[in-house]
Amino acid sequence: MDPPRRRHHRLNKGPAMSSHTFLLGGDLPVNRLGFGAMRLSANGFTGPARDPETGCAVLRRAVELGVDHIDTASFYASADGTVTANALIREALHPYPESLVIATKVGPGYTDDGKLEQTTDPAALRPMIEANLETLGVDRLDLVYLRVGQMQPPHGESIAAQFETLAAMRDEGIITHLGLSNVDTEHLAEARTIAPVVAVQNHFHAGKQDDTAVLKACEEAGIAFVPFFPLGGGADNAADRLAEVAARRHDATTAQIALAWLLASSPVTLAIPGTGTLAHLEENMAAATITLTPADLDLLAST
Ligand SMILES: NC(=O)c1ccc[n+]([C@@H]2O[C@H](COP(=O)([O-])OP(=O)(O)OC[C@H]3O[C@@H](n4cnc5c(N)ncnc54)[C@H](OP(=O)(O)O)[C@@H]3O)[C@@H](O)[C@H]2O)c1
Repeated sequence: MDPPRRRHHRLNKGPAMSSHTFLLGGDLPVNRLGFGAMRLSANGFTGPARDPETGCAVLRRAVELGVDHIDTASFYASADGTVTANALIREALHPYPESLVIATKVGPGYTDDGKLEQTTDPAALRPMIEANLETLGVDRLDLVYLRVGQMQPPHGESIAAQFETLAAMRDEGIITHLGLSNVDTEHLAEARTIAPVVAVQNHFHAGKQDDTAVLKACEEAGIAFVPFFPLGGGADNAADRLAEVAARRHDATTAQIALAWLLASSPVTLAIPGTGTLAHLEENMAAATITLTPADLDLLAST
């Protein structure tokens, strides 16, 4: 098995480098602007298969542009199962650059009739971890999120049994760091009594800023906060304000302002915009060079 990776310098150059770095778990430096892989296989949680060659080209270009943090899951797949994010990542990027951090998540799994369902059974987690090891072609996963809720935290449910199972696999050496997704502050506090949590991935963007309690808890503990749907996931009720900032002051697109806002909103946020197109990738990575003014931030603050 490879030794745990401890990296303190990177050779990558590109716009994503302008987003500055965050030290995940104290030993994995990543640019704060990364990449979400869900849209490579289908343009949503599921859907018609996207072209795999384009997906590979997007991944390779992302790394050229300085992306060193890719967010994925073994359940990111087209509806017909022919294109999966993990297979594309492996095909495009393996053997992986030393600086690349691949984060994956476990919790949901496909039923025999092809439906994606959340499991609460701790015993179901090991096969999910093994599937990620195999499909990504690694013997250790850099960061694994326990994805708990379906888009929203399931309030009041203990996650101890599942998190203990992942913590045991971390002790075994097949996982480097653990994270949580779709959780509230109680889940975060409970998990931290079991093992260190290095990242939380929750639903958050300029048009949905209500998860401030978890963000604040992450800031206080130096935990990365990784908003999913950083561009609104296709439904952005801050679109008018983003467009105003984009047009009036920055000659930028609304997507770029949404990403610049996420990076400005806290020193612990890591953006992982998802796209299956080269044009949107280039546009999104250029967001790292935008500095918002105090007036922009006032306009984009939650009302
Ligand atoms: N933990 C969880 O429960 C959870 C849930 C959802 C997502 N995630 C993770 O978070 C990542 C980011 O979320 P996401 O990809 O769903 O949503 P997103 O980044 O908010 O938005 C992606 C959508 O916006 C489009 N898009 C991308 N760049 C654009 C641009 N510059 N201009 C206009 N449209 C653009 C994409 O279409 P094109 O592909 O055509 O560009 C896609 O439809 C995912 O890839 C996944 O890794 C996690």
